[in-house]
Amino acid sequence: MADILSSAEIIKYLDGSCADWQVEVLAETDSTNTRLKEGAKAGAPEKLLLAARRQTAGRGRLGRSFLSPEGGIYLSLLVRPSILLEDCTNLTVAAAVCTVRALKQVCGLQADIKWVNDLYVDGKKLCGILTEGAALPNGMTDFAVVGIGLNLEKPDCGNDRQLAAVVTGLKELGCTVSRARLIAAILTEFDRYYAHMQANHPAVLEEYRQRMFLTGTEVTLSTDPQKRPYTVLGVDHRAGLVVRSPEGEEITLHSGEVSVRRHY
Ligand code: BTN
Repeated sequence: MADILSSAEIIKYLDGSCADWQVEVLAETDSTNTRLKEGAKAGAPEKLLLAARRQTAGRGRLGRSFLSPEGGIYLSLLVRPSILLEDCTNLTVAAAVCTVRALKQVCGLQADIKWVNDLYVDGKKLCGILTEGAALPNGMTDFAVVGIGLNLEKPDCGNDRQLAAVVTGLKELGCTVSRARLIAAILTEFDRYYAHMQANHPAVLEEYRQRMFLTGTEVTLSTDPQKRPYTVLGVDHRAGLVVRSPEGEEITLHSGEVSVRRHY
């Protein structure tokens, strides 16, 4: 099967849906998130999807870079929802659920979610999501850019065996897919969510909770240098991670990162 990644090919797979979205594909860019943020600041309207065949400066959460060689799926969605900027975590939640659904439909793969923005298959990271935005003076969202990066090939980890053990790509998982088809499926799911954003949210959040594999596990927090064990109790109504501290106190995390605690 030919894997042509172009806007015409994505639109072909959209089959008439998402007609109010503008779809653009670049051969190469620094970061699709950066491009859309610049566009949004210059007044670009919402419902714009930008994909690239490779990124030279792909970005991940917490200031990390995101390896983006030729062949992966790198896309960003520009939206202007009428919600507070602080509620834009909902978009990350929705993007995670929509990508899980698309992977199931197109590849038959069951991915799980690691709070807040990573998709895992067989215990290895396949996909990351980075949502960025800006607020109006009243705290409402001016724009939000939801970036989704999905590995086709397992990323080249060089000599880093620890990293190699925790990342994967669609090909390693036995899925040969048309990138345009997968992107069209993600957009179709996201557009359906976005059209009914308020009404849909509880259902999407419930699906997120069901697939969020940290619940019940012991984790360490990126903010705790002592790496003490916290028990994950679940995800609250604002997609915060509810954990119990070693002292028995319930804490809700809205940022940062957790790691599954290994028992030696
Ligand atoms: C993460 O794993 O921390 C998030 C990774 C997000 C990567 C995607 S690829 C498309 C978009 N452009 C970027 O520069 N980042 C996001």
